[in-house]
Amino acid sequence: MRHLLDICDFSEVELNELIATAEDIIVNPAKYSEKCKGKKLATLFFESSTRTRLSFEAAMYELGGHVLGFSSASSSSTTKGESVGDTIRVTGYYADIIAMRHPYAGAPLAAIQKTKVPIINAGDGEHCHPTQTLADLLTIHREKGTLENLTIGLCGDLKYGRTVHSLIAAMARYKGTKFIFISPNELKIPDYIKKTTLKTTNTPWEETDSIEDAIPKLDILYMTRVQGERFLDKAEYERLKNSYIISTDKLQTAKSDLAILHPLPRVNEISVKVDDDPRACYFKQVENGKYIRMALILKLLNEKNYESPISQNKKLINVYKCTNHNCITTITQEIDQIFEVLDEEQGIYCCEYCKKCEVKI
Ligand code: CP
Repeated sequence: MRHLLDICDFSEVELNELIATAEDIIVNPAKYSEKCKGKKLATLFFESSTRTRLSFEAAMYELGGHVLGFSSASSSSTTKGESVGDTIRVTGYYADIIAMRHPYAGAPLAAIQKTKVPIINAGDGEHCHPTQTLADLLTIHREKGTLENLTIGLCGDLKYGRTVHSLIAAMARYKGTKFIFISPNELKIPDYIKKTTLKTTNTPWEETDSIEDAIPKLDILYMTRVQGERFLDKAEYERLKNSYIISTDKLQTAKSDLAILHPLPRVNEISVKVDDDPRACYFKQVENGKYIRMALILKLLNEKNYESPISQNKKLINVYKCTNHNCITTITQEIDQIFEVLDEEQGIYCCEYCKKCEVKI
């Protein structure tokens, strides 16, 4: 069984194959119009969405399949106290593949322990959002003709922005990538990403709070919304929400072939006047999201007999309890607590669900 929980579940070769399939779908849609005839996709969205859910549904319809599901936890039996595990197990009796979004990190990892159908992570809390990254990669490839040797500026909420975390993990594997992280001090990327992704791949990166300084150096500018829903302190959100606003003026020093991306929804990080600039790619990204999700559904349904390689990392089961209040293990008792070795020499283990809670042994 093949799932997509984290963008690193796919190798660089597999990412390139998915991009190639999506590009073929764009050119030859009729070839794919019955590939999922008789198959059903369930979209289980415990957290709100416009693009991700609708693009998954459009993708399945364009593959000739059917769709069922719910668009908010409030219209499911979650309101009666049903656990994520039971909801997933039940859905597995009705659908061939499940795309799920949940406000708690690690919910999709909990889900795969309860069903025998492929699970796609459509966003789990502040953790990651691998299918948005697939849409980002396809967009970058179509705009730049390559995924190599690019300087990528990520701007805004790099702490809570799950799309940023997944994009860093993906692009760090491509040759010649350089990151410039542009954020206020309070919204810097989490340390675990520096430790687990940037250092292990030797990817160069710099941090700044100045968009003006960064813009002239960039091939890609990836803007993000400040994620109000993830702040415990709402006054802090109000103080930080307008940290960066891209206007036509700010783009005057940018390269003529800059590609401006944003996973959307935007609030006011990009002025609507920028939409008419040929460098604005965020609505192309929306459309690309449907094609790459078509490619993903096909891949996962075709790899039902795939056997996951056994992880060589040491694991501690039910020895420690995760303390991250945003981790799925804090709201459900029915799954094992799993801590996996992060740094063997230092004896550091981290929660396998959220990757945020560390223990030193
Ligand atoms: N980019 C993204 O995840 O958008 P939605 O929240 O609308 O799905």
